[in-house]
Amino acid sequence: MKITAQQKITATDLFCIFLYKKTGAAILKKQFGKTISDGLVKEILARFKHKDFKGELGESLQIFVDRNPAKKIFLIGLGDGKKSLFAKKAAGSAVKIAKKTKSKDVSFLLPLLAGEGRGEVAENFAKKIVFGAVGGNYEFKIGDTKEQVFIEKLTLISPVKLDEKKISRDFALAEAVNTTRELVNLPPNILTTKEMVERAKKLVKKYKNLSITILDQKKLEKLKMGGLLAVGKGSDSDSYMVILEYKGDKKSPTRGGAQREKTALVGKGVCFDSGGYNLKPTSSIADMKMDMAGAGTVLGIMEFLARTKFAGNVVGVLGLVENMVNGKAYRPDDIITMYNGQTCLITNTDAEGRLVLADCLSYVTEKYKPAKVLDFATLTGACISALGNEITGIMGNDKKIVAGIKESAKKTEELVWELPITELFREKIKAEQADLQNWTAGVSAGSSMAGAFLENFVRETPWCHFDIAGTAWTKSGHEYCPKGGTGAMVETVCEYFSNNSLSY
Ligand code: BES
Ligand code: ZN
Ligand code: ZN
Repeated sequence: MKITAQQKITATDLFCIFLYKKTGAAILKKQFGKTISDGLVKEILARFKHKDFKGELGESLQIFVDRNPAKKIFLIGLGDGKKSLFAKKAAGSAVKIAKKTKSKDVSFLLPLLAGEGRGEVAENFAKKIVFGAVGGNYEFKIGDTKEQVFIEKLTLISPVKLDEKKISRDFALAEAVNTTRELVNLPPNILTTKEMVERAKKLVKKYKNLSITILDQKKLEKLKMGGLLAVGKGSDSDSYMVILEYKGDKKSPTRGGAQREKTALVGKGVCFDSGGYNLKPTSSIADMKMDMAGAGTVLGIMEFLARTKFAGNVVGVLGLVENMVNGKAYRPDDIITMYNGQTCLITNTDAEGRLVLADCLSYVTEKYKPAKVLDFATLTGACISALGNEITGIMGNDKKIVAGIKESAKKTEELVWELPITELFREKIKAEQADLQNWTAGVSAGSSMAGAFLENFVRETPWCHFDIAGTAWTKSGHEYCPKGGTGAMVETVCEYFSNNSLSY
């Protein structure tokens, strides 16, 4: 898809006019008077008057007006502009109409928010529209794709001039989310650990400001990455740790000018989680290809940073393994030694993600000394029980990062909720025969227990953990995301980087 912005309507297959509830003649004339014909304004008013169209969120109506540069015209409801996600949802609905009507060249006419006319407001609105449109345009299929229709050209028409640079940035963000979705949707026989490495390599080839270090199985053994290796032992696929470095701030502190601090991102990349010897039952094993969503999130964010030339330094770590069963697989009762030297009693082979993350966290904090570290993982089913499928669980050791993430999530309308890590959980994750255990029978606060485990591996580094077990995947899909991978948290973290770019 290509997106451009302009103030005039030109020839198009599908013209979508976005309208708030109760849009009256005065507002229509004032906002769109110069953009659309009098005949069209009249027709819209008539549809409102006869209640054929009320402007409710989710509502759409085709209208027919002569002498218009569009082949088809639809009115799209925005509601009263107060419902969360209204702009994203409305844009997603418009894309669904484009697909149904097989329209590849589409124009959206965007109103101003009621009573406001500043460019900044229009741009925030446009950002959400772009997100909804690009997200809604995405589909996943391997096989016959002849029937699929995608918007190829989207023109945003706004009564206020939109900044093209910002639009292309919004577009990059929405496409980064789709990158993550695609990775999550790919089946485990195709997206193997090796294939994830290849995809990371491809990204580095595309963006010259990225570099890559690949720690293959041999190197991981040399480095004694006991946690990550234990999980991957039962698989025919090799395990890897991939480190992507993005350098957007080349200033050296010794040559004058303050170098921005480095941020580390770590992602759980379990390409398939069978549970290991604590094998998952049929209902839970389904969709466990998505257990690499944390690594997918990191790759999506890195793509956005590289593509938009973010002014800071970020290191992205992918812990890539497959949790399977064979004669070499790790077992309950094993005691393993983690990269940082701590020992861990395996009490449940299905609590594997924390073992992978732990080694990635110790390695990146030791070797790269980041000022902060964020990790992403489909870590616990307990997070789904606690928060459902729309809210990401966050926890950490640093109030400022957590507050910053909450602030960014408010802007993106993604939902996050902080879960506690307390002394109680820190005690309960300790083992008698080893320093730690990876699971404690009888403690139901599974997400906090996982957080208490991970905390041991970040050293003193300010840290925030994102449990995306519930949010990385949608069973039903919605207006701007099909069933499957969602790309949850990519938007919020990119927003966080943009907000905090001065301190980085
Ligand atoms: N990958 C799962 C968590 C998960 C569950 C992600 C559902 C997405 C949807 C994780 O590795 C796991 O199996 N966790 C166990 C931990 C338990 C054995 C302590 C869980 O949550 O059931
Ligand atoms: Zn598991
Ligand atoms: Zn898992």
